Amino acid sequence: MTDPQATATREIIGDLMRQDARIAPKYFYDACGSALFEDITHLPEYYPTRTERAIMATHGAAIGRKVSAGGTVIELGAGNCEKARTLCKLIRPARFVAVDISADFLHEAAAGLRAAFPGLDFHVVVADLTAELAMPSDLPWQHRLVFYPGSSIGNFDPPAALDLLSRIRRLVAEDGGLLIGIDLQKEVAVLEAAYNDAAGVTAAFNLNVLNHVNRLTGSDFALHQWHHRAFFNTTESRIEMHLEATTDTRVTWLGGERLFHCGERIHTENSYKYRIEDFIELLDSAGFHNAEAWTDEKRWFAVILARP
Ligand SMILES: C[S@@+](CC[C@H](N)C(=O)[O-])C[C@H]1O[C@@H](n2cnc3c(N)ncnc32)[C@H](O)[C@@H]1O
Repeated sequence: MTDPQATATREIIGDLMRQDARIAPKYFYDACGSALFEDITHLPEYYPTRTERAIMATHGAAIGRKVSAGGTVIELGAGNCEKARTLCKLIRPARFVAVDISADFLHEAAAGLRAAFPGLDFHVVVADLTAELAMPSDLPWQHRLVFYPGSSIGNFDPPAALDLLSRIRRLVAEDGGLLIGIDLQKEVAVLEAAYNDAAGVTAAFNLNVLNHVNRLTGSDFALHQWHHRAFFNTTESRIEMHLEATTDTRVTWLGGERLFHCGERIHTENSYKYRIEDFIELLDSAGFHNAEAWTDEKRWFAVILARP
């Protein structure tokens, strides 16, 4: 039996000791991080959530007609399960599986959804998408639709995204599908504003990862010595989030330490921005075909339905 906290500690310390230090974005999501992300979704600068919602409001009925009712929806990175409500109204599944790494937040959100859809056979799976993707053993194989909204796929670099999409493909039979939200390339100022909001909520979300890391590893990051940085990397077509040391700072943890010099950064997140045709190619490589895409008027975001 592996101890999840020991595994997390090993991974985090290994990443902090790299020359290009990093923290995996899944560590954003302790209870506080999940609540902060929910606040981000309401910010005026953060267009992805409202744009994806608008696409579903405009095209949801058309999307719903392409998906069998009475099947199973498996939502990955379900978060507050808000988008599941809309989808469940549209396609009336018999079963719903909410998957997320943020256990307490997921259980609370799931309770709300369960109350709103009393007839729905409801499952909660607390799991790390970067590891194994195991479904409840009695979950029927027929008519599974994997729902992965929010452009969370954008947090994975292209090889890791291909790996995750290929593992998602193995969750569905020939009659299944994938409904996925992706953020599209657009004006850099719009992208950078979305990750540098005036109220400082994204900065708080980014810095909170250090609190979570302190709790998991026993480290002593002092948050006031770190600064939020977010910018578009044009070559890689991704927003990068980093934490930058504002002074020389020595961080210690059980059995180790590292000196970060003033200006040194810890890379905390990538959010890839796609062209629809490139993403469809990626889906093809993962075994999802016949993709159909719906987008908003400005073509800022897309919702794609693809089949095995
Ligand atoms: C960007 S939020 C999106 C939330 C929601 N789906 C939405 O569209 O607003 C990412 C979600 O994925 C979850 N998450 C992040 N990394 C994960 C991982 N490695 N495994 C499982 N869930 C993860 C987070 O807890 C969070 O709820």
